[in-house]
Amino acid sequence: MRGPAGTARGRRRGPDLTGVGAPVLWHSVAMRPVRQEIMWHAVLDAVAATGRDDALRVLDLGGGTGGDAVRLATLGHRVTVADPSPDALASLARRAAEAGVDGSSDGSVTGVLADTSDLAEHLSDAFFDLVLLHGVVEHVDDPAQALRAVVPVLAGGGVLSLVVANRSAAVLARALSGDFDGAATTLDTTAATWDLRTQGPRRFVPDELDALLADAGLRVEQRLALRVFSDLVPSAVVDVEPGARERLWALERRVRATSEFSGISGGLQWTARLDLG
Ligand SMILES: C[S@@+](CC[C@H](N)C(=O)[O-])C[C@H]1O[C@@H](n2cnc3c(N)ncnc32)[C@H](O)[C@@H]1O
Repeated sequence: MRGPAGTARGRRRGPDLTGVGAPVLWHSVAMRPVRQEIMWHAVLDAVAATGRDDALRVLDLGGGTGGDAVRLATLGHRVTVADPSPDALASLARRAAEAGVDGSSDGSVTGVLADTSDLAEHLSDAFFDLVLLHGVVEHVDDPAQALRAVVPVLAGGGVLSLVVANRSAAVLARALSGDFDGAATTLDTTAATWDLRTQGPRRFVPDELDALLADAGLRVEQRLALRVFSDLVPSAVVDVEPGARERLWALERRVRATSEFSGISGGLQWTARLDLG
């Protein structure tokens, strides 16, 4: 049964689980690639979007080898990773055991062999406060179906965080590298006409995300630009110049909620809740 909006049964209150005060601050991970750290902060932003500071039931749909899931579990959240790759789930199990979040601690990670097409069969009685769908709808045959699959597992008041690659950024990158024909082809293709076999992972523009979420009965709450500058700045600049990472990070945070920059950012993060009316 769903709990009322913003609540979950059996939760405990405890220390800060938002990651804000946890040892994952930007400057404490100086050797981690900038892109990777921005994507982790997108996960923390998704946690913050729930408006909660206690242990969440999180579904990482298409969570792969569980890099994000294990980090979330170490913050105290109960994370289910659903993924169609048995190899990814085996790596996830190893990672979770190494981190001590395989069920024996407050935070935990559980792997489920499932995908967006059969999620309901595998998680028929489960409800989640937060569903992460990060870097997945680029790969599925039917993005609209994938979004609809999330709805039955969202708890009342639960949040979906959808992260995708931005098609306009790909057009820009191809043109900047001199691949003008590739840029024109990408410009002429929509998410609906995209061919996964010949064009690789699908890319989206903001209007397409709005339409996908509305069609699934979800109301968009936040539209965030991810990797506005960091996909364009050479890593040598960031890694060599003292303080450059921190200044780049500050720039990314300043522009992430502005629509001008989600027009060209490498990634897009939309958060949404069930539209109850
Ligand atoms: C690029 S990885 C993203 C992994 C992770 N979410 C992240 O952000 O790093 C894409 C993942 O989606 C999974 N996947 C592919 N098709 C899927 C589907 N129909 N339903 C759920 N997961 C799927 C793949 O197995 C893979 O683990």
